[in-house]
Amino acid sequence: MTVLCHTDQLEAGQAKGFDIGTTKLVLINYRNEFYLYRNSCPHRSIPLEWMPDQFLDFEKQYIQCATHGALFRIEDGVCVSGPCVEDHLDPVAFEIVEGQIIVNLPTSDAQIPAEQLT
Ligand code: FES
Repeated sequence: MTVLCHTDQLEAGQAKGFDIGTTKLVLINYRNEFYLYRNSCPHRSIPLEWMPDQFLDFEKQYIQCATHGALFRIEDGVCVSGPCVEDHLDPVAFEIVEGQIIVNLPTSDAQIPAEQLT
């Protein structure tokens, strides 16, 4: 069980990346609902962002892959534009307990570095 962050740490319209061992995740607050995906574009299986925590398009309506510009719906991760249309990001199950966003990942995953919690 890994605590990613507190819901208060991610405002609506923001996204944040997490590296947990070898697992990369992206958490998005979209209209005060939270969505969590593996940070891996289905086109080339590489991370989505071009700079830390820059995952969304200019209008913050889609997750955007920096490499070839694929756009993914935030609500279900489905690609609606770009080279991998109708493919999708891999959702990651999580729960919110007393405001903490918690994921269960394989035990081989390391603890999250403390600096990512701020
Ligand atoms: S690697 Fe993401 S669109 Fe090509």
